[in-house]
Amino acid sequence: MDSGTGRAHGKAILLGEHAVVYGAPALAVPIPFLTATARATRVPCPDDGGEGISFTIAGPGPAASAPLPGDGTRQMLAEFREATGFSDDLCVDVVVDCAVPQGRGLGSSAACARAAVLALADLCGFGLDAATVFRLVQASENVAHGRASGIDAVATGSDSPVLFRSGVVQELSTNFEGRFVIADSGVGGSTKEAVELVRRRFEHDAQAKEEFVSRASGLTGGAVRDLEQGDLAGLGARLTENHVLLQELGLSTDRIDRLVAAALMAGSPGAKISGGGLGGCVIALAGGPGAAEELGRTLREAGATRTWIVPMRRLASHVD
Ligand code: PMV
Repeated sequence: MDSGTGRAHGKAILLGEHAVVYGAPALAVPIPFLTATARATRVPCPDDGGEGISFTIAGPGPAASAPLPGDGTRQMLAEFREATGFSDDLCVDVVVDCAVPQGRGLGSSAACARAAVLALADLCGFGLDAATVFRLVQASENVAHGRASGIDAVATGSDSPVLFRSGVVQELSTNFEGRFVIADSGVGGSTKEAVELVRRRFEHDAQAKEEFVSRASGLTGGAVRDLEQGDLAGLGARLTENHVLLQELGLSTDRIDRLVAAALMAGSPGAKISGGGLGGCVIALAGGPGAAEELGRTLREAGATRTWIVPMRRLASHVD
C-alpha cells in the first residue's frame, strides 16, 4: 500500500485540567465533529539514501503552538520504529487536515499526533493496540506540553466521556441530558507555558500544590456523581468552583473571566475555562438544546468568536 489514513478528534476538559498532571482525576468529553484526518503517502527516497518524513498541517486559524513540533515528531517516529520493529527506509509525506483549532485547549496537538500515528500504522500495515497508540501519541505530547498527563492522548480517540487518572482510563456511559457550550475567547494560549507556569508555582509551595490537587480531585469526583444522578445544578456549581481554582493559579484571562460571568448571568448552572488556559475556551453548562443555543448566542454577544454545542451523551462518531 502506498498510502494510509488515520483519524482523531478534538476534546474538551470538563474538570481537573492541570491537577491531572499531578495525579488527580480529570473528566473530558470528545468533540467528534472537530476532526483531524491524516494521510501518509510513501514517496521515493532520495538517491543518497536515508529517510525523510515531512509533516504538513492544514487547518483553520494561525498556530498558537505547532501541533507536531519537530522534536515531538522525531520522538514519536523513534518510538514507532521501536514499537513495530519497522526497519525499512521510510520516506513519507504526512498531511493532517485538522479542524481542531490550535491553542484553544481543544486537544489539537494530540488529535494531529493521533491521526498521524494511525496513518503511519495504516501505511505500514500495522494494527496497533490502544496502549501502543497512546504511548506514541504521548511521545509527541510530552514535547508539545512539556509534561503531558495523557488525558488528551486518550480523549482525542474516545467516543465517550472519559475519566482519566495517572494513565488509567474509565469510559463513562451516561444518560446525562445536559449540553456543554464551548466558547472560543478568540485568543490562543500555550499549554506548554501554562503547564510550566503551574510547575514553577508549585516548585516552591508544596502546600499550594497539595491543596489544589485535593480540591480539584474532590470536584471531579463529585462531578462524576452529578452525572450519574443527573444533577445539573450540582455539576454547574463544581465547574464554576474549578474555574476559581484555575483563576487563582493565574491561568485565566480577562476575556475568559468575562465570558464565564456572561454565562452565569444568563442562567448557566456553571462555567469555567477549559484546557491549558492563558487563553483558549470557556465551557459552560446548559440544559436542553434550546437553552444551549441561547447560551451560545449570549456568549457570542459577550465576545466569543465562535461557539460549539457538545452533548454529554455517548455520541455516534467515526471511532470504531
Ligand atoms: O491541550 P490542553 O490545552 O487542553 O491541555 C491539556 C490539559 C493539561 O492538564 C493542562 C495538560 C495535561 O497534559 O494534562
